[in-house]
Amino acid sequence: MKRKLPVLLLTAAAFAARIDDLPTLLDKFDEALQQRLLKPAPKTLGMSRIMVRPSFGHHFAPVRSDKRDFMPENEHEKQLIAALESRGVQLGVYLFGEDILKHDAAALNFRALKGPGAITEGTPRPAWYPSLAKTRATDENALPDWGEIYPIAQQAMKTFRTGEPGFATEIGKWTIAARPALATDARCVHCHQAAGSKAQLGDAVGGIVYAYRVKP
Ligand code: HEC
Repeated sequence: MKRKLPVLLLTAAAFAARIDDLPTLLDKFDEALQQRLLKPAPKTLGMSRIMVRPSFGHHFAPVRSDKRDFMPENEHEKQLIAALESRGVQLGVYLFGEDILKHDAAALNFRALKGPGAITEGTPRPAWYPSLAKTRATDENALPDWGEIYPIAQQAMKTFRTGEPGFATEIGKWTIAARPALATDARCVHCHQAAGSKAQLGDAVGGIVYAYRVKP
């Protein structure tokens, strides 16, 4: 019996480490998405650069039978998704823009907010999207919907304007983290100014909201 103890301790420690490294994994995933925004292709801008289903010029509409809305496009991303999925992490991503400060949610502006996209397999999508008919069955474990995230993204955009790096909050069992999408390159500034933005190099032209939890 004595011999078994260290093995058990090791297993417990390893398990704790796996969950503890979640913030690091999410940081790495955020970096990967910011890299994607930096390398756009025609019509593959913003949300369409991140999710499999294109949404250029309209709201994001996932196909509910898709296992996820995100497809890794390189080895690094593949490893990140594998690491998140092996830890049972459910993760949804919402993308917002500066327009969120101009309108209320009632305007249903797609440049203000899109999402959520299901990043890991088994992440339950909400019943309602601005672009989709509401499903009948409401999954109480589902990601917060577009309308629930709107005021959080709006608040986040305001704080980015004052130079803050983002914030975290909670909705039900979901941890919500907002991060800025910074115009890290003259190309971001050029395109977004053409669409009416006043952002300069280094300013936030929008942001990403992450909603995550470990599968109960
Ligand atoms: C070639 C022009 C172009 C470049 C370069 C570009 N964007 Fe965009 N971006 C757009 C357009 C157009 C949209 C809206 C697309 C749509 O309909 O979803 C968009 C959407 C976005 C959104 C979603 C919110 C919104 O405004 O619709 C964010 C956030 C964003 N871009 C950030 C960035 C960042 C950060 C960079 C640089 C790292 C960047 N973009 C580079 C043109 C560009």
